[in-house]
Amino acid sequence: KRVVLAYSGGLDTSVILKWLKETYACEVVTFTADLGQGEELEPARRKAELMGVKPEHIFVDDLREEFVRDYVMPMMRANALYEGLYLLGTSIARPLIAKRQIEIARQVGADAVSHGATGKGNDQVRFELGYYALAPDIKVIAPWREWDLTSRTRLIEYAEQHQIPVPKDKRGENPFSTDANLLHTSSEGKVLEDPWEEVPDYVFSRTDNPETAPNTPEVITVDFERGDAVAVNGEALSPAALLTKLNELGKLHGIGRLDLVENRFVGMKSRGMYETPGGTIYHLAHRGIEQITLDRGAAHLKDELAPRYAELIYNGFWFSPEREMLQAAIDHSQEKVSGTVRLKLYKGSVSVIGRRSPNSLYSEKVVTFEDDQGAYDQRDAAGFIKLNALRLRLLGRRDR
Ligand code: ARG
Ligand code: SIN
Repeated sequence: KRVVLAYSGGLDTSVILKWLKETYACEVVTFTADLGQGEELEPARRKAELMGVKPEHIFVDDLREEFVRDYVMPMMRANALYEGLYLLGTSIARPLIAKRQIEIARQVGADAVSHGATGKGNDQVRFELGYYALAPDIKVIAPWREWDLTSRTRLIEYAEQHQIPVPKDKRGENPFSTDANLLHTSSEGKVLEDPWEEVPDYVFSRTDNPETAPNTPEVITVDFERGDAVAVNGEALSPAALLTKLNELGKLHGIGRLDLVENRFVGMKSRGMYETPGGTIYHLAHRGIEQITLDRGAAHLKDELAPRYAELIYNGFWFSPEREMLQAAIDHSQEKVSGTVRLKLYKGSVSVIGRRSPNSLYSEKVVTFEDDQGAYDQRDAAGFIKLNALRLRLLGRRDR
């Protein structure tokens, strides 16, 4: 028996590696993905080797471009926000990890996959819905739902008994749990668990404090082509390079911090701190270019679909027919969404200050308060309002 484990190289997944071998007497194949979490991956490879994984069973993949091009950007086209605020940085990474894990399982002839998400969260659902969609008969092992290592102390004891190196800073209680990739860093648990208590400064890793950010605003441009950002300040960049660039700008100006109490799919509320510097700029820039290139009907329909789309991503239904249907409609709407947005970054805020497009529907001639030289006949508005008022007048006569 062989199992492919989503392996970060950290303490928890190292304990899982050992536990899988002991509990299932199976061969473990490790998969470590670079999604731009900003950690070296070679230590994870070495650690897997040290723990007895065969070199040909250690997979370390750089998935940054695929992540941004095929997951983040399609989601950004939808302007997706969960519960109005969360840019879905963790949610959107899970389907890609699941997909690659299943590919590796096929390649090495494994019959099972495993992950380090707990039985209380969203991530277990996202990983496993992905696995089952892509490999209906795969066996899934979720150690956190099975084992009795229910406290930090037990976990560390287990690690020490099995010669798994425990880093000094992991000996005490973990102050909180994080998940990071090119789109965001999320922090949850422990010091964050009381939703009344302000998040302490040391939790932040991706954004400078907006209160001490530069006193002079910075103006940038983002170019879009068919709904996707393609350049920053006129410089064409690959998807991952573009998001990296926006992350640098956002970090400097303290942009993209979000303290949120959200509803998990499993039913409980949880409090998290999100840092999404580049994604926050990207999201607003995309809305800016849509303002002049999308027709009202298309734009408003998109705004109705966006929460539905976001909920599908959050709940782990990336590989579902309904997500694909919505994606097709959203992608179709982006045909003319090209042009340039100018934005101002200042002390934690990002504002659109200009937009232009060869496909703009904005007509200064029509909208002007000055003489429009016959572009618009104000007399047309009288009948327009009269007919819209008809039923209100009938009601008014009857009821008021
Ligand atoms: N609550 C976020 C979500 O469900 C993040 C979950 C993972 N984050 C973490 N710190 N372990 O998408
Ligand atoms: C976890 O439970 O593993 C992290 C939090 C979540 O998935 O919602």
